[in-house]
Amino acid sequence: MLNLSLSNQQLTNIANQYGTPVYVYHAEKIAEQYKNLTTAFAGQDVKIFYACKALTNINILKHLKQLGSNVDCSSINEVKLALHAGFPPDRVVYTSNGIAFSEIEEAQSLGVHINIDSLSNLEKFGKKYGHTYPVGIRLRPNIMAGGNLKISTGHDKSKFGIPIDQINDLLRIIEETDLFIEGLHIHTGSEIKDVEVFIQGIEVLFELIPLFKELAFIDLGGGFKVPYRKGDHQTDITHLAQKVGEAFANHPNPNGRPLQVWFEPGKYLVSGSGYLITQVNVMKQTNATHFVSVNSGFNHLIRPMFYDSYHQITNLSNPEGEEKHYSVVGNICETDTFAWDRKLHEVREGDYLVFANAGAYGFEMSSNFNSRFKPAEVLVKDETFHLIRRRDKFEDLLNNQIEVL
Ligand code: LLP
Repeated sequence: MLNLSLSNQQLTNIANQYGTPVYVYHAEKIAEQYKNLTTAFAGQDVKIFYACKALTNINILKHLKQLGSNVDCSSINEVKLALHAGFPPDRVVYTSNGIAFSEIEEAQSLGVHINIDSLSNLEKFGKKYGHTYPVGIRLRPNIMAGGNLKISTGHDKSKFGIPIDQINDLLRIIEETDLFIEGLHIHTGSEIKDVEVFIQGIEVLFELIPLFKELAFIDLGGGFKVPYRKGDHQTDITHLAQKVGEAFANHPNPNGRPLQVWFEPGKYLVSGSGYLITQVNVMKQTNATHFVSVNSGFNHLIRPMFYDSYHQITNLSNPEGEEKHYSVVGNICETDTFAWDRKLHEVREGDYLVFANAGAYGFEMSSNFNSRFKPAEVLVKDETFHLIRRRDKFEDLLNNQIEVL
C-alpha cells in the first residue's frame, strides 16, 4: 500500500466532522513536493509554475504562492483566480490552447505571460502589439509521450501547439509583425515517467533556439508521473534535474543570454496530497462480484472511468478486517466503477472508504450530474482542519437557472 500522508484517524475525524463525500488536501504534503522540485533543481535557473488546472481552490493557490511557486493557467478565469490569490502578474503564465483572441487580449491587459499555440492567434497578436509585449510560443514537438492517448499532447496528431514543421510560417509571421518572442514552450503529456522524453523535447528546442534572438525562457511544461500504488514508477526528479542541467551545459545558448527553464507540474504538486472520503451506502452480492456502492461516482472522481486510472482505496472503518475482494462503484445512473475485484479489508455498510491520489483533477473535474451535490473540501494545515469549500446545498442546483414557466 502507498503510505498516506494523513492518518486513518485524521481522515476519519474529518469524515465525522464534515460528512461525506469530502475532498481533503494536506498542505504539508504539497510543501514537501514543492521542496523536492526546488531542491533537485537548486543551482539551476529553473522556475516552477503550478499547473492550477489540477486544483484551483483559492487556498491551494495561496498556499503555493506562499511556498514561492509561480502559476500556470489554462483559461482566463484561472488567470483571474491566480491574480485573486495574490500572484503578481509576472508570476503567472497563461498557456493558451484554441482560445478566442479576445481572451489573449484580456490576458495581455492583465500583464501576465502568455504562451500562444496557433499561427492564427500569433499573427493577430503580432498585428496588434508588435514588439511591445513579449510572448511565448507553444510548439508541438511531434513526440509521443504520456500515460495514455487521452493525456498525450505532443504527438503529430495532437491539436496542441504549433507543429514544428510549420516553423517557416511561424518565422514569417514573427518577422512581418515584429513579434517579441520571449519563450518557447512544449508540453508533451501527463504521467511521463521517462526522463528521456523531456531531454528529447529539449533536443528539439535546441534546433530552434538560435532562430529566436530575444529568448528568455524555455518552458518544458508539466507531466511528471506520480505513484498510484506501492512500487509504482514515478519521474525521477533528481535524475531529470541532472539531465536538464547537462543538456543546457552542453548547448550554451547561442544568443549569449542564459535561458531560464520553466516547468508546469500539476499532478506532481497536488495529486498525492489529496483524498476523497466516501461512505458505503449498499453492499450487493452478485454472481459476478461483491459490489460496494459508495455515496459518490464519476460526478466526483472521474479519473478511474475516463482514464482507467488506479486509485488506492482504504477502508478507514475496518483497517484490521479480513481482506476480501470487492468491486467499488458509485451511486449514479451509469456504470461508474472505481475499482473491479479489489482486495479491501472487510467492508460493511456505513464504512468510510478513502481514495488516494485525489488531489489532482479530482474535485476540479467534478460535476453536478444526477443533480447531486459537489463534495465539500477540507484543507489540513499544521494538523488543523479548515473547511475550504462547503458542500453544495439544494439552492445551488437552482442558482443559475431562470424559471420561465
Ligand atoms: N502544462 C500544460 C500545458 C498542460 O496541458 C498540463 C496538463 C500541465 C502543464 C500539467 O500536467 P500534469 O503535471 O498535471 O501532468 N485530467 C488528466 C490530466 C490532463 C492534463 C492536461 N494538461 C488526468 O486526470 O490524468
